[in-house]
Amino acid sequence: MKQERHLHQHSDTGPPAFHAGNVPIAGRVILAPMSGYNDQPFRRLCRRFGASLVYTGLLSSPAIVHGPGRWGARRTAEMLRLHPEEVPLAVQLFGGEEAVIVEAARRIEPLDMALLDINLGCAKSKVTRSGAGAALMRDPARVGRIFAQLSAVLDTPVSGKIRLGWDSDSRTYLEVARAMVDNGAVLVAVHGRTAEQAYTGSADWDAIAEVKQAVQVPVLASGDVKRVADIAHILDATGCDGAMVGRAAIGNPWIFAGQDRDTIPWLERLPVVLEHLAMMLEFHGDYAGVHRFRKHLRAYLQSSGIPRRARIRITQCPDPDELQALLTESPAWVVAGEDVEPEELLVDGEV
Ligand SMILES: Cc1cc2nc3c(=O)[nH]c(=O)nc-3n(C[C@H](O)[C@H](O)[C@H](O)COP(=O)(O)O)c2cc1C
Repeated sequence: MKQERHLHQHSDTGPPAFHAGNVPIAGRVILAPMSGYNDQPFRRLCRRFGASLVYTGLLSSPAIVHGPGRWGARRTAEMLRLHPEEVPLAVQLFGGEEAVIVEAARRIEPLDMALLDINLGCAKSKVTRSGAGAALMRDPARVGRIFAQLSAVLDTPVSGKIRLGWDSDSRTYLEVARAMVDNGAVLVAVHGRTAEQAYTGSADWDAIAEVKQAVQVPVLASGDVKRVADIAHILDATGCDGAMVGRAAIGNPWIFAGQDRDTIPWLERLPVVLEHLAMMLEFHGDYAGVHRFRKHLRAYLQSSGIPRRARIRITQCPDPDELQALLTESPAWVVAGEDVEPEELLVDGEV
């Protein structure tokens, strides 16, 4: 408990927990990159609650260099609308062609980013078929060339996030991590699964520990931090410098402050939920703001004591003002124990 409290009681003005190159990182709990979730409002919120470093989701190097194109240059530009509150920020790029990655990195370098991060973990075929993401785990020599060029061209320190390899026959994590660091990477993050595993099974923390032993730069451990207590466990098990929180941070910024969501009464969660919604509306506009907020909202509402049908009505509400009003009323619907379904909250058409 003492160690956990210490983990979360960092201050941005105190001594840093570690350095990534010349970048001081104030604490050991970090928001993992998550495309579709890590927009500017979410990154800011997680920083405010204590994440010592936040990542964007993966951005397409070809879209930055050749956009507008099929990767969606508008969404890329949106992901790169940064805010001073999210510093320090790691911006993550994916790409298969060395020249395109380097050019994309050069173009976005003027942004206020602490780290330029390369994705070597995405297992989706639309990314891997161009040789990007986890496909890079099969080609340590190419990884070395990419990092050598990036470090030669950029002033910004370069990092990368890997998986354990492509599949169980090709667990290349040590070769790839060494190729990165030998060619200038200042930090390595490791998701303890192969691409083939996607998100199945459990993350192999022992393999992450091997990476920490193998390289002389800070290593971040990723995979299966579900509750606050897991942060100390993964740091102990891997010896890593920092722990990433991914899925468990969705609708749950409190994890960065050392609190588990299910210990926080709905009434106390509500101001944060309303503020997150307001930030989403401001950043994305009414329509996209409400829609993109829903996946966070579903998580915020877990174990809130609000009956299921009422939760559905809240998460399906399309109108920002009505949603704000529903949320403001919602503490009155919290039911301790009995699963009462207030009549007026039933979703239209539901029996
Ligand atoms: C919805 C989602 C999106 C993700 N997007 C990215 C990404 O853009 N780049 C990346 O390196 N990893 C991405 N990841 C992987 C996470 O960063 C993390 O390594 C993985 O989810 C395991 O950690 P967790 O158990 O804490 O979620 C994503 C994961 C999820 C669930």
